[in-house]
Amino acid sequence: MCGIVGAIADRDVVPVLIEGLKRLEYRGYDSAGIAMVVGDEVRRVRRTGRVAEMEAAAQAEHFSATLGIGHTRWATHGGVTEANAHPHISHGALALVHNGIIENHEAQREKLAALGYVFESQTDTEVIAHLIHHHQQQGLDLLAALQAAVKELTGAYALAVVSKAEPQHLVAARMGCPLLVGLGIGENFVASDVSAILQATRRVIFLEEGDTVDVTRTGVTVFDATDSRVERKVHVSDVSLASLELGPYRHFMQKEIHEQPRAIADTIEAAVDAGGFPATLFGKNAESILRQITGVQILACGTSYYAGLTARYWIEAITGLPCSVEIASEYRYRAAYANPKHLVVTISQSGETLDTMEALKYARSLGHLHTLSICNVPESAIPRASELVCYTRAGAEIGVASTKAFTTQLAALFQLTVVLGRLHGKVSDQEEAQYLEELRHLPGSVQHALNLEPQIAAWAERFALKQNALFLGRGLSYPIALEGALKLKEISYIHAEAYPAGELKHGPLALVDATMPVVFIAPNDRLLEKVKSNMQEVRARGGELFVFADQDSHFSESAGVHVIRTPRHTGVLSPVVHTIPVQLLAYHTALARGTDVDKPRNLAKAVTVE
Ligand code: G6P
Repeated sequence: MCGIVGAIADRDVVPVLIEGLKRLEYRGYDSAGIAMVVGDEVRRVRRTGRVAEMEAAAQAEHFSATLGIGHTRWATHGGVTEANAHPHISHGALALVHNGIIENHEAQREKLAALGYVFESQTDTEVIAHLIHHHQQQGLDLLAALQAAVKELTGAYALAVVSKAEPQHLVAARMGCPLLVGLGIGENFVASDVSAILQATRRVIFLEEGDTVDVTRTGVTVFDATDSRVERKVHVSDVSLASLELGPYRHFMQKEIHEQPRAIADTIEAAVDAGGFPATLFGKNAESILRQITGVQILACGTSYYAGLTARYWIEAITGLPCSVEIASEYRYRAAYANPKHLVVTISQSGETLDTMEALKYARSLGHLHTLSICNVPESAIPRASELVCYTRAGAEIGVASTKAFTTQLAALFQLTVVLGRLHGKVSDQEEAQYLEELRHLPGSVQHALNLEPQIAAWAERFALKQNALFLGRGLSYPIALEGALKLKEISYIHAEAYPAGELKHGPLALVDATMPVVFIAPNDRLLEKVKSNMQEVRARGGELFVFADQDSHFSESAGVHVIRTPRHTGVLSPVVHTIPVQLLAYHTALARGTDVDKPRNLAKAVTVE
């Protein structure tokens, strides 16, 4: 969703801001803008649409400055208009960018209007600009005005502010939304995401909740929520620049699909090196905690939720522990059953998803004692708020539709399953060795599945002409059917639904006719014969079958039945391998339809609002 970048330097920062905003595009946005202090003027350019359009406008006006802020906005309060785009300016003197939502903005608006402030936008953000300006007018310097203003706000924010009164300062604040400071040499930066400033520096300070910061060209001073000076640790980011570049691929999604063998190999590396599944894969104190727990409660959103659904099959079958999985936005608002001894597992690629974060807090408030985060972004909010952590090592995921994050989450969840199984006496040494062996072969099997791309692309040409699609699977393949349908609708805008194949007769069969493509995820497992019966039910109604099977499944193509085989059945890990073809089907269908694959309409990469 929204992204922030700011810079103070002795060189022109406009290219830095624009490059930063381009790096933030992947998060999803619908307008972009920059503002800078030039002499005794605050100048600004904003555009709806792409950063490139805003960049062209900035170039046309020959913008150049040594202090500035930039923003990509994903509309919440107020429509997608230039007037609502950030930065917002107060009295031509101060410019501000904001991520998050201010809950008491209406009360603040009334108060400021009574003081004579005129509002130009429908946003909650504009009130913050005026509020800081108001405090400046009372004689406070910029930092003190920011610190006074944030005390009057309720809600979530990451803010960056510049003022023509203090051209040597860039100030920022964080509460509920990520914000970091980048440390350069003779220049410093702020950003909501390290990718925005990686071009300039890798040395970063992650601000904590309630922090404010005064950034000059040569210094950074952080204050906590009580406005006391604090030292925050300097981290060196290991996000690779290559992961932010497209390389030879046409889209980030395609690149990320193809990175999966490497991403999975990196995620399982520690287990492979250890020759087993030590509890330390989940943190130093993991063993005693994971031994005590008597069940698992998984909370997540979107694709991460489907990773959780898959894990439930593994956890209950392999560890004997009860496992519930719930969409975070539902869980957080219901009087849910809570057993203090059940481990709360949150799954989040970004580590920022607001509903998942709030569900985690809510689970704690209900009495859950132990929490574990599976996350792809080091130092992000959710792992920081969790007791145990396992980082997937997918690398930066730029495509809005999640791919490598999902399969690495599955790899991490499988490892969690075996650790729990071992600690609870359900996995013998021999079984542990066998699971490790299967996991070691996984990157190779995923590579084989990727080699099916030409066949899948041929299917996609036909899918591209359809309005609807049905995805069916049973057991471990049901969550993969859900993920396949989600991928297809997200990026090709074809209406797609997924069902457990056993539910066919309870509703979706009514949709089946000769125009309906029906995708079956049909690995060679103990449910295959049941799935074959479901296929007959579809065929008998004229539905066209597109079957993802295994090499050793023994069923053949016939009229209306198309089959693509993954190289061999990979047992309990087959959901990971069968994910690849459904990702490729969605990707090539979207390609054939000419949609914006990496930035599908209306969607955002990290959903940081409700
Ligand atoms: C958004 C993204 C999805 C992602 C979901 C959950 O909807 O577009 O790809 O699965 O959020 O995000 P998380 O970062 O918590 O996994």
